[in-house]
Amino acid sequence: MIGVFDSGFGGLHVLKSVTTRLPQYGYIYLGDSARAPYGPRPFDEVHAFTKQGVDFLFEHGAQLVVLACNTASSEALRKIQTQYGEAKKVLGVLIPFAEATARATKTKRVGVIATEGTVRSGSFPREITKVDPEIEVVQQACPLLVPLVEAGEQDSAQAERLLEEYLRPLLAQKIDTLVLGCTHYGLLERKIQEVVGPKIEIITERDVVASSLKDYLARHPDIESKITKEPSVRFFSTGDIERFEKLGSIFFESPIRAEHVDLL
Ligand code: DGL
Repeated sequence: MIGVFDSGFGGLHVLKSVTTRLPQYGYIYLGDSARAPYGPRPFDEVHAFTKQGVDFLFEHGAQLVVLACNTASSEALRKIQTQYGEAKKVLGVLIPFAEATARATKTKRVGVIATEGTVRSGSFPREITKVDPEIEVVQQACPLLVPLVEAGEQDSAQAERLLEEYLRPLLAQKIDTLVLGCTHYGLLERKIQEVVGPKIEIITERDVVASSLKDYLARHPDIESKITKEPSVRFFSTGDIERFEKLGSIFFESPIRAEHVDLL
């Protein structure tokens, strides 16, 4: 199975596009909703929680794990990859994001919106400028967007006000490409496009993860051959299951049935 880890529901939006593009595999998803959001948490905590989640996915049959969570990919991925070594593969989302961004920008002025943890880590500017050192990256932390989406208020007037406030400084920097560097922001994509206007290209995780995973599996037949080829999706959450199923169905765009798990 392919394991997908997120701090909560947001990664289900990514899982949806992955299961649609690569329906031949079995999937296991874990959302650490009881301890989300990860965005405001210190590095050590994000790492410890992510490691527990990844351990759970490997123990429950994953042959490969994708960290859908940008905060976890920014703060914990490198350390976790070192801890597992070559034996167990854990992939993040930053490199595919960086490659897609570098391909999209014409003016080489890019904006990134993400959680505080992701912005603080500097991971997006680092990875994007690795692909093209001439790209200028402007970041904006948007701490109030995750709680807003989790409250189901992505279409509210408050969402529009907050987006205008967060995006104004980026627009002032004359960006031509905007990275939605957080799982939850996919649900705000339409509103964000309205605020930034049609000329700015938006890069979402949903667009980049499925195709980069497909490429990765094509380049690594040794790993691909080990992955279960029985189409199925198992959902686990550390939080309240009723809430996870309700909100998760919005992110996954179809009803889901989840199982509870306590991580220690
Ligand atoms: N999954 C997180 C991310 O992509 C957003 C939610 C959180 O802060 O936990 O950064």
